Amino acid sequence: MRFEDAKVQLVFEDYSQRLETDAAKLRELGPAGFARRDEFLLPVGEEAAWMLHSLIIARRPKRILELGTSYGYSTLFFAHAAREVGAQLVTMELADYKQAHAREQLERAGLAIHVDFRCGDALELLAEDSGEWDFVLLDIWKDLYVPCFEAVYPKLSEEAVVCSDNMVEPEAARPNARALREAIRSKPDMQTALLSVGQGIELSVKWSAGNAKL
Ligand SMILES: C[S@@+](CC[C@H](N)C(=O)[O-])C[C@H]1O[C@@H](n2cnc3c(N)ncnc32)[C@H](O)[C@@H]1O
Repeated sequence: MRFEDAKVQLVFEDYSQRLETDAAKLRELGPAGFARRDEFLLPVGEEAAWMLHSLIIARRPKRILELGTSYGYSTLFFAHAAREVGAQLVTMELADYKQAHAREQLERAGLAIHVDFRCGDALELLAEDSGEWDFVLLDIWKDLYVPCFEAVYPKLSEEAVVCSDNMVEPEAARPNARALREAIRSKPDMQTALLSVGQGIELSVKWSAGNAKL
């Protein structure tokens, strides 16, 4: 898959190149790589990114929330899809230097105008926004998955989509992934399934039978 917009495609190719370099460095570092995780993109990956992009195009959300900008890989896909459907994209990240890099790349791609970059702790930033959210990517450090989901859940619109990454890989994330999947399943109005896409995506929709908008 390619972006039809040459500026976006160029930035995507740069990210893909860095991803290869990152993967080689991480292989070299082995378990020591975890302590240096802030140096790496750690993105959702191409397959998951295109799937999320497709979902946004198909679902046409008004407000999109990305938890975990990192260096902007998934933000590029989200911003492109947001531009296509006229959505607002809010992206949250704790590390200012990562978000600054993301902003630079999105500016190069001509997409920064579609992104509301918010820097700080996601739980604090979430408390400051009353929502509603129509589409959410949960992709921050995994010990924050359950608290972030619980903070977002009351602010989801009817038929909102929540996608959570790293449900299968890396292995170390599995206990937190399991806890998140249980938290989602405990809500009576969340329909959810684990997809074998990328590193494992939990695809959840807020929906109650007989309460569909369409
Ligand atoms: C796996 S990376 C996100 C990858 C990104 N979504 C992508 O696909 O390119 C997780 C990010 O969450 C950020 N993060 C960790 N704790 C956070 C917090 N409390 N608030 C906001 N962001 C946080 C980390 O700094 C890291 O950049």
